[in-house]
Amino acid sequence: MSLKYQIVKGFRDILPPESALFWSAEKSAREIFSCFGYQEIILPVIEYLELFSRSIGDSTDIVAKEMFLIPDQKGRNLALRPEATASAVRAYVEGLSSKGPQKLFYFGPMFRHERPQKGRYRQFWQLGAEAIGYPGPGTDAELLQLLEQYFKSFGLSEIELRLNSLGCGKCRPAYRRGLVEYLEANQGQLCEDCRIRLLKNPLRVLDCKNEACRAVAQNAPSPLESLCPECSAHFDRLRGNLALLKLPYILDPHLVRGLDYYTRTVFEFQARTGLGAQNAVAAGGRYDDLVSELGGPATPAIGFALGVERLVILLEGKVTGEILLNRPDVFLVAAGDQAYQFALKLLFALRKVGLYAEMAIDEPSRSLRSQLKLADKAKARLAMLIGDDELKSNSLNVKILESGKDLKLDNDSLKAMAGIDWEEMKMHLNSAGFAFVSRDYEKMLIENQNLFKVLKIYLGALESQEG
Ligand code: HAM
Repeated sequence: MSLKYQIVKGFRDILPPESALFWSAEKSAREIFSCFGYQEIILPVIEYLELFSRSIGDSTDIVAKEMFLIPDQKGRNLALRPEATASAVRAYVEGLSSKGPQKLFYFGPMFRHERPQKGRYRQFWQLGAEAIGYPGPGTDAELLQLLEQYFKSFGLSEIELRLNSLGCGKCRPAYRRGLVEYLEANQGQLCEDCRIRLLKNPLRVLDCKNEACRAVAQNAPSPLESLCPECSAHFDRLRGNLALLKLPYILDPHLVRGLDYYTRTVFEFQARTGLGAQNAVAAGGRYDDLVSELGGPATPAIGFALGVERLVILLEGKVTGEILLNRPDVFLVAAGDQAYQFALKLLFALRKVGLYAEMAIDEPSRSLRSQLKLADKAKARLAMLIGDDELKSNSLNVKILESGKDLKLDNDSLKAMAGIDWEEMKMHLNSAGFAFVSRDYEKMLIENQNLFKVLKIYLGALESQEG
């Protein structure tokens, strides 16, 4: 049977459990980026086309071949954003430039009409950061350190940083002349696209993926050889900072980027394995002229964007199913009508205190056995067995599903256990010295904190029923 409605080519549904990895990528970024002083900026996905052609460059593949264009009613060309640096700078010039330097981060979808393949889609998500108003090279090192810390937070170590400097408006023209001379001498070996690039935007030739062009690029002059004294000092100081921070990198004298706005520092974090041809997980660089080119005051800046799908591909091989599963903390198993009604109220009382509680909500007449099977299937941590007897005697049967252990609590032990104040206990645990008493005990308490919470809410529900 052919499906009537299919997803647009190059677009993806992010289904659970992959969506959980997206969420953890974002959560971890929020935590780490905020420690580095970055604040979120939420940008539109549509901009005027000129913003991108002016900033990314008319002759780049992104602008020349990959834009999703949307003409508006007045005949102006709008475009779905292929990246967010241009938008962040536009927003800075429009609304933030009077407020001094800004460290901004964003998380959102971008759109490029590329040939889809593993790790390359037409809609993809980027996590990005832009430090606008920071001349560096301290900020350059800080940004690289941020990414390094971010990757490490997921235990990803098979990622290498490649670094280069492209120079500035002062030293780039001389480099460009030397490069054109070299490329002209080797024109015969270049692909058709690169012969055009040679005329319009020779640096792009160094970025071509064609085998023959790569061979030519390997022996091409590097921008490092033409840096002016200021750019050279900037790069040396950045490298000094990285040495100080013991942040490893590979000097890649031919690294150029597919966007025209870069000056000085450029970098890519590339996965050694797991991503195939699309191995750049994050990339960026300095763009000291872009703010003024887009109508703002002369303002140096640097940033990066990380491809979330590519990160997720790397994480899929690493994280355990445990993280991906939304496991119920507790599954309520109710025997009989009265117990069902009690359990239904208890379900929402548990959720109110932040526990993930589950029950066979649409099937009050399921047998105990089959409810327990559901609890197992959902990989719930605890099952609470609620029947008329328990409700009458204010007792409880809890099954700890991981160990298969049954806890049969009469009213007295229920009260005693529910009476443990977890917050107070935590305070004691955190006080100096406790850790030396018993790590195992601390671990046991942490693992059981949800059980204590569940018991407390259950006891409360029993008491309110009596009242
Ligand atoms: P970019 O190198 O074009 O730079 O993209 C950054 C990252 O986005 C790439 O390293 C890759 O992980 C991901 N990416 C790019 N295209 C795709 C795609 N079609 N499918 C999946 N992932 C993709 C920028 O976008 C600049 N705005 C980075 C920047 C920020 N420079 C300074 N500030």
